[in-house]
Amino acid sequence: MSQRKLYIETYGCQMNVADSHLICGHLEGQGYVRTDTPEDADVILVNTCAVREHAEQRVWGRLSDLARYKQRNPEIVLGVVGCMAQHWRDKVWERAPYVDLVVGPDAYRRLPDLLQSVHHSQRAHDVRLDRGETYADLAPAYDGKVTAFVSIMRGCDQFCTFCIVPYVRGRERSVPAEAVLGRVRELVARGVKEVTFLGQTVNAYRHGETTFADLLRQANEIRGLERIRFTSPHPVYLTEEVIAAMAECEKVMPALHLPLQSASDAVLKRMNRQYTLAEYDRLVHQLRTAIPDLALTTDILVGFPGEREEDFQATYAYLEKTRYDAAFMFKYSPRPGTRAYKWGDPIPEEEKIRRLEAIIELQERVSAEINAQAVGSTVEVLVEGQAKRGPGWYGRSPQFKNVVFTAQRAVRPGELVRVKIADSTAHTLKGALAGGKEQ
Ligand code: 5AD
Ligand code: SF4
Repeated sequence: MSQRKLYIETYGCQMNVADSHLICGHLEGQGYVRTDTPEDADVILVNTCAVREHAEQRVWGRLSDLARYKQRNPEIVLGVVGCMAQHWRDKVWERAPYVDLVVGPDAYRRLPDLLQSVHHSQRAHDVRLDRGETYADLAPAYDGKVTAFVSIMRGCDQFCTFCIVPYVRGRERSVPAEAVLGRVRELVARGVKEVTFLGQTVNAYRHGETTFADLLRQANEIRGLERIRFTSPHPVYLTEEVIAAMAECEKVMPALHLPLQSASDAVLKRMNRQYTLAEYDRLVHQLRTAIPDLALTTDILVGFPGEREEDFQATYAYLEKTRYDAAFMFKYSPRPGTRAYKWGDPIPEEEKIRRLEAIIELQERVSAEINAQAVGSTVEVLVEGQAKRGPGWYGRSPQFKNVVFTAQRAVRPGELVRVKIADSTAHTLKGALAGGKEQ
């Protein structure tokens, strides 16, 4: 068979980005070649997110755009994979009859076979969840960057009442530690300097006797690896062992994304978050004591059913007091199939928007103030490439801040350099090379 060209477009979280690499690696192993444009593709896959309705609407719109390529050439296969495929199953065809293939997050191993059967002009779908599937043996495609994602666990057992993830990604399961560490070593051999361990509740990782803290310590020993990050942890699994491993492992970067969602105990309880504000706040203190230069970020969800003005004010006040480096802030989007769905969406849209805008404004101010404090200091930056806008280079600080900088000498991706910060915004530090540390 001549080589078929694969185009894949990815929506949603980093987990999906990692899954798209996995899909590419798997299909490349079966003779497919990757293309960056849908124009010349034989197979078009859309890897989808179901977490909010808005994300889904974008995908429905995009699918109807992509269907144009099929009008021109009916041989082209258009597939929906990922969380929306799992969420909508064969109902995808009611809304998007031109789709040929519907494949959920646990069925990627069968993609070559499923694509083959579509080729014989039938539709195909596989949305079975498989609680044993970790894809530990499949090598993801490597995109040549100096940073890489490594999935260490899949699924989620938390069942927050607002969230669709446990239904579309199934039960929690961890990749064997040897497979994780082997993957990291392979990536390092190809030039990767920084890995980010991924999982929906990444610190719930456990395989046999190996805990998440053990895994961090083992990865910290890998020669040639410079930086380790992970996302997203759940507060209930943030044990003292994990905090100690973060503090003691020099390669584990001082940056943590610790979703809060709400600072009202009443709301947290209805969300089934399994912690109180006091417990969460204790973690923040422990973390900041153990890791004084820690950058802390979070997720906030406003407008959850039953969120009163005083609940919202508690969240506002906690953000103001805690001074996160950054936050992802969302307004509640009811998801059919979740437990909260039956509570409807009682808070009016304008009110949800008001609450969201208020915390965004607050957080922008705090982020700008925190970043302004970095002006005049020198930070270590892992160079990722040239700056997208304007001249100069781009990389991240240990705290995961975007840094753009100018350099009098040539620098190369993968290099760790010191950058003197001269200016800042809420989202970026700007500066100039202060002298490099050669690898
Ligand atoms: N509506 C809005 N935001 C949501 N999130 C998860 N489910 C929903 C929903 N139904 C947010 C949470 C989570 C982040 C990944 O997405 O804040 O931490
Ligand atoms: Fe979206 Fe959640 Fe699926 Fe990630 S896991 S793609 S955030 S629905």
